[in-house]
Amino acid sequence: MDPYIIHTNSPEETMAFAEKLATYLKPGNVLTLEGDLGAGKTTFTKGLAKGLKIKRTVNSPTFTIVKEYEGIYPLYHIDAYRLENSEEDIGFEDYFAGDGVTVVEWATYISDFLPDTLLNVSITYESENARKIQLMPQGTFFEAICKELIK
Ligand SMILES: Nc1ncnc2c1ncn2[C@@H]1O[C@H](COP(=O)(O)OP(=O)(O)O)[C@@H](O)[C@H]1O
Ligand SMILES: [Mg+2]
Repeated sequence: MDPYIIHTNSPEETMAFAEKLATYLKPGNVLTLEGDLGAGKTTFTKGLAKGLKIKRTVNSPTFTIVKEYEGIYPLYHIDAYRLENSEEDIGFEDYFAGDGVTVVEWATYISDFLPDTLLNVSITYESENARKIQLMPQGTFFEAICKELIK
């Protein structure tokens, strides 16, 4: 299936797009985020947080595997980078099937634990202020959201 693609020309535009996406999300939803360092993964997550009315500042989760933020419902920000080759299950199911939205960076390292239904978001650097955002929905729920967001 072809991905849904949008282009943004500033960090604010990326945040605004993620903020709008957040309004369609429901507790138990899982998003996987891909992109090189500086692509805009944290910027995107800040936008999601804004959409969930989270007041605290969202940072890269590098030194903790899971960061939790309270909003309309919780946002769980997981960075699986340090779980490479560990096959460790830190209780992912509780997050994925839980009461909040989960965003996973380096999701390939925990692919065995991921649900079948999720939204993969891949951000690519194009130029200093331009990014390509590709949405690859798995499942009809996210497919419908993508159609709604990108017409
Ligand atoms: N269109 C854009 N979308 C997102 N970030 C952008 C954009 N243009 C410039 N930037 C800048 O790129 C950087 C992205 O950093 P960050 O979100 O921390 O990336 P990552 O978490 O993927 O390493 C920020 O400094 C941000 O201001
Ligand atoms: Mg980051």
